[in-house]
Amino acid sequence: MIKQESIEHLKSIIDIVDVIGNYVQLKKQGSNFTALCPFHSEKTPSFVVSPAKGIYHCFGCGASGDAIKFIMEIEKLSYPEAIEKLASMFNFKLEYSSKNNFLNIDLLEKVNSFYESKLFTNQNALEYLKKRGLFESTIEKFAIGYAPSSIEQFKFFKDAHLNFEELRKLGVLNETGEYPRLIERITFPIFSQNGKIIAFGGRTISNHPAKYINFTNTSIFNKSKTFYGLNFAREHILRSKKIIIVEGYMDVIMLHQTGIQNAVATLGTALTTEHLPILKKLNPEITVAYDSDNAGINAALKAAKLLYKEYFDGGVVLFAEGEDPADAVKNGENLDKIFKEKIPFSSFIINFTLKKYNLKNPIEKRDAINEIKSYINSLPDILKEDFANKTAPYLNISPNLLKAKTNTAYQNLNLNKKIDIAEAGIIKTLYENPQIMNSVVEYLSSAMFKTHSYELSAVYAENFEDARVLEIVLRDDIKTLDLVTLKNQIRKILIPYYQNKILQIRLDPTIKGEEKLHLLKNMNLKLQKIKKGEFVEGISSI
Ligand code: UTP
Ligand code: MN
Repeated sequence: MIKQESIEHLKSIIDIVDVIGNYVQLKKQGSNFTALCPFHSEKTPSFVVSPAKGIYHCFGCGASGDAIKFIMEIEKLSYPEAIEKLASMFNFKLEYSSKNNFLNIDLLEKVNSFYESKLFTNQNALEYLKKRGLFESTIEKFAIGYAPSSIEQFKFFKDAHLNFEELRKLGVLNETGEYPRLIERITFPIFSQNGKIIAFGGRTISNHPAKYINFTNTSIFNKSKTFYGLNFAREHILRSKKIIIVEGYMDVIMLHQTGIQNAVATLGTALTTEHLPILKKLNPEITVAYDSDNAGINAALKAAKLLYKEYFDGGVVLFAEGEDPADAVKNGENLDKIFKEKIPFSSFIINFTLKKYNLKNPIEKRDAINEIKSYINSLPDILKEDFANKTAPYLNISPNLLKAKTNTAYQNLNLNKKIDIAEAGIIKTLYENPQIMNSVVEYLSSAMFKTHSYELSAVYAENFEDARVLEIVLRDDIKTLDLVTLKNQIRKILIPYYQNKILQIRLDPTIKGEEKLHLLKNMNLKLQKIKKGEFVEGISSI
């Protein structure tokens, strides 16, 4: 935590005109300054800075505040980050309280300078980086170094009078303080958003079984909240409103080297909810570009699910089998094309979820539906609709089936049961087109069905999650009918039904005179209408 006195002291020395003047062209007007507002687009200036009051105000969009607020807004930084940024603008040394107080994070810069110097004395390591395709300028920009033997490192720590306890707390030494965490490895400093080194990762160049070792979390480094490369990528992300998230250090480095400077990496962890606040603040369109191996694709699926749920726009790109972004750069692939062809999050989720199942098999199809449904259940209401509508066509079912709240009905489905195709076709059609139910129910009662009268009454009662209804609507061999076929099928049931009814009435001795005539007239009328197809009226197609 930055000490409050230190913040007050900083505030007293910063000049708001100086700060804002770095971002917009100010013009003096009386005791104030005016400019075109950087927070909304305008042609005549309504943005005013008052050096006396230390504030800015826009009469156009209402933006206002002090220098700290200005930096927070324009750079999209948190309060402490904005303070740190201002401090560095004015060469002001902030004082920290609480646990960071005795963690001198400048030690990490010293350790890194040592590692950097060691890289240039190690031919092996340098060769390795060159072979991977890194330019010298890239090595310098990312401050890549080499951690030598434990003995050499301890000698340096002693000679430079670095405090061992602090080195342990910062993660340079292991938990017990007995040895350096990175030994004989290429080192990658991990920077905060403001460009301060907060941790390291190291890669073996001698086939050590742990390919990479990253620092464990410390009081200044939380790996699930950190993106590697964000310090370099920030302004490119803000400018382009796009971010590329990759898996590894090398991917970030190679992409930046080739001019794609909005790439960042998660640090050996999947994308987590803890990363989201950073992304929300930057609010970019997101491209997930993970390795094209099984682990990478599964991680991309998880990331896509998380990001879609949080309303992020974007998608996933797939590289050639087994390739990662660093390889793609090295292999000279057409990256613009690859990034353009990203698969939107929703499509990616649908395709890669359903891929696991053989949808021709009703049992597997049911399991696929359950998996999709449980994801839909986790979505906010607005997205439920969107996602169900997008997924339903892949499963050849109604979106309603995916939106229903409870899941219990699926558990005991008996999808191999024998069914009456004609009746089932009518049921599936009504289920998927509830708007025609009113005009059908007038003619077709559930008692007229021989096999599925229970299911028909369940559909009429809109019990769309009834297990026996689902048994029918989930089957691929039962087709949804078009209007003409539907009428024909209903006719095939109704005509013999009414003919039989008419016969019964004629022969019924208990029905007499007027009543009999009236009933027969009604029945005949219905029968004629049915024969002519004059039911399910007012609906031209389904
Ligand atoms: P990869 O194995 O894909 O790394 O792991 P990479 O960057 O492609 O490796 P090379 O150098 O090109 O062969 C992706 C990320 O996962 C973490 C690291 O952060 C790495 O960059 N990781 C990987 C570990 O933390 N430990 C490991 O053993 C491997
Ligand atoms: Mn990789």
